[in-house]
Amino acid sequence: MTHFYDLAARRRSMRQFTEESLSQDELAALMGTVLMAPSSKGTCCWQFIVIDDKALLQQLAQCKEHGAAMLADARAAVAVLADPSVSDVWVEDASVATTYLLLQAEDSGLGACWVQIRNRQAADGTSAEDVVRRILNVPEHLRVLSLVALGHKGMERKPFNPERLKWDKVHLNVYPSATEE
Ligand SMILES: Cc1cc2nc3c(=O)[nH]c(=O)nc-3n(C[C@H](O)[C@H](O)[C@H](O)COP(=O)(O)O)c2cc1C
Repeated sequence: MTHFYDLAARRRSMRQFTEESLSQDELAALMGTVLMAPSSKGTCCWQFIVIDDKALLQQLAQCKEHGAAMLADARAAVAVLADPSVSDVWVEDASVATTYLLLQAEDSGLGACWVQIRNRQAADGTSAEDVVRRILNVPEHLRVLSLVALGHKGMERKPFNPERLKWDKVHLNVYPSATEE
């Protein structure tokens, strides 16, 4: 059994993928975990679109100027949507779900990368959210937080080195005063 610490250490953003497809069973297994993500007041304000259509993935790769190009080589992606009228903390709920997806992908031996959509723009200044909304037919009442690129890993990534963790970001009891920093 993998310990969570090892899973977290191994999970790194994957932006290169092999040609091998993801089966419907593999995709369903990923989503089965995502649907267990905690959400504020248990409202489950999220919805997901699983994309395995190559033409759609190629269009999505151009939804913003930087940081989405790997979607063109991904074998699948998941759009993480949420309904702000159901939860005022939809960003948090959708972020937790996105994180569950990244970690389950790693646990399944797959590569994944978070592609931020909310608050990002396409090269012509259009909101990336509107571009994704049009490509995937997302209704107006839903927001698009992220896309997660998925596939079999196409490169090696080193796991986190425990000796290089940023322990200076962790404080005990109260935030240190300026003189202690
Ligand atoms: C909120 C958030 C947004 C991100 N957006 C993007 C993105 O749009 N494109 C991308 O290639 N990576 C994106 N990433 C991945 C980060 O760049 C990556 O997690 C960070 O550089 C640390 O690298 P690692 O994931 O390999 O440990 C995002 C990560 C988070 C948490």
